[in-house]
Amino acid sequence: MTLLPAVSAFLSSPKQLLIDGEWVDAKDGRTFATINPSTEQDLVQVAYASSVDVDRAVSAARAAFEPWSRTTPRERSHLLWRIGDLVDAHADEFAQLEALDNGKRVEAARDGDIAIAAELFRYFAGWATKMEGTSIPMSVPGREFHAYTRREPVGVVAGIVPWNFPLLMACFKIVPAITAGNTVILKPAEQTPLTALRLGQLLLEAGVPAGVVNVLPGFGDTGAALVEHHGVDKVAFTGSTEVGKKIAAAAAGNLKKVSLELGGKAPNIIFNDADIEAAIAGAVLGGYFNEGQCCVNGSRLYVQRGVFDEVVAGVAAAAAAIKVGDGFDPTSQMGPLVSQEQHEKVLGYIRGAVRDGAVLTAGSADRVGERGFFVQPTLITGVHEEMAVQTDEIFGPVVTAIPFDTEDEVVAAANNTVYGLAAGVWSTNIGTAHRVGARLRAGTVWLNTWHADDVTLPRGGFKQSGWGRELGSFGLDDYTELKTVIAELR
Ligand code: NAI
Ligand code: MG
Repeated sequence: MTLLPAVSAFLSSPKQLLIDGEWVDAKDGRTFATINPSTEQDLVQVAYASSVDVDRAVSAARAAFEPWSRTTPRERSHLLWRIGDLVDAHADEFAQLEALDNGKRVEAARDGDIAIAAELFRYFAGWATKMEGTSIPMSVPGREFHAYTRREPVGVVAGIVPWNFPLLMACFKIVPAITAGNTVILKPAEQTPLTALRLGQLLLEAGVPAGVVNVLPGFGDTGAALVEHHGVDKVAFTGSTEVGKKIAAAAAGNLKKVSLELGGKAPNIIFNDADIEAAIAGAVLGGYFNEGQCCVNGSRLYVQRGVFDEVVAGVAAAAAAIKVGDGFDPTSQMGPLVSQEQHEKVLGYIRGAVRDGAVLTAGSADRVGERGFFVQPTLITGVHEEMAVQTDEIFGPVVTAIPFDTEDEVVAAANNTVYGLAAGVWSTNIGTAHRVGARLRAGTVWLNTWHADDVTLPRGGFKQSGWGRELGSFGLDDYTELKTVIAELR
């Protein structure tokens, strides 16, 4: 697959910060390299925002807030719809940029990340005109009142996002925020800043006013400067639980609102009476989708003893058959991991499991090929609950399988984790499926399916998987304050 002219043109243009509607260099002139994880080669240099640039962006977002929050809902709705159409019109270009920067397959990016990002603008375009309040009766003897609620924007929102779905995660923060009348400073992940910068260009083209959306590429220190800033009213973060905890602590300075979408270690439970073919396919998709770099991946398989060998053999055969290769090669079925750091981390977990006595039923602890951060999907058996491979979020194509006998036993094992993002149950007995689904402590539960999703559905985590919910009809709650207005009727 060759690069589209628009992608080549974008790559050869300067990669600056978007502040107050202008593309500018970092004040101190610093830049960083973003690399292609399939080739390990530098792609381009990108401006690296420091705390001085954060100050500038916060001033711009604050100044833009009052006029933006007073635009009519219809105006915001039409603008959002226009941006959705622009994202669609540039889908091939976004998909190539995502494949270059993140490593994922071009087709997977186009049909997944980019298509959903465009839909997100249209979905929230509908909500802009439907942010309603309620009128509430009061009972004060001898006096009359009219009391009602309004939903108002929180103010300046810092959106800090990871690298696994770069454009989509950026849109998860920007879209609900601007729908509700907030202004935004987006900090893309240091591994994958490119599509956020291209989106910034399209936002200006669509007519988003200066300062309403600012884009500041940088590292953790850029994110930390935003989180500590007293001019920021809310932080919306997706990333590791470790950084989520730092954000919760750092936000205390001005008690800014915080929403967190953090890590996961989802249990995927297959009962003897499951449709085994579907369950195996679901376990493969759940385990290896997006190179396993997905917070809701089904990384812990629990299989009832009667079908354990059959399921393990089926998942192992499918894992071994997956062709790992460059995201630009149309014959590839899985791309590389995003970075050397993740590559080393994931291979380290696989080696550690083998050292601890576990068995690699599929995959390998060695890299695939000489170049690029490739890993063959793995299935690990002979695992105990205390092993790191079973307790930690690995964020790679690594699935463990453990047999179980009873429902009570598997529910206890499945819930034996600090995380609570997603979980799944496979059973043709609807009683079993719904009952076990209800007992699993997770924000999303899939019954006889995995990764089925829609922008209409709320998502978020129980326990240490986060605070708040994104998308669906709940998706604006974290981006609005509820105001109560009481008028005396004299
Ligand atoms: P991370 O949580 O360090 O980074 C996510 C974002 O937070 C990036 O934009 C980063 O620059 C920013 N950041 C880092 N430190 C910060 C701080 N102190 N204050 C504010 N922002 C900060 O994730 P990383 O290092 O890329 O990956 C490490 C592990 O985290 C992965 O192996 C995986 O287990 C997990 N992870 C989970 C994700 C999820 O969706 N739940 C997404 C990405 C990573
Ligand atoms: Mg980190």
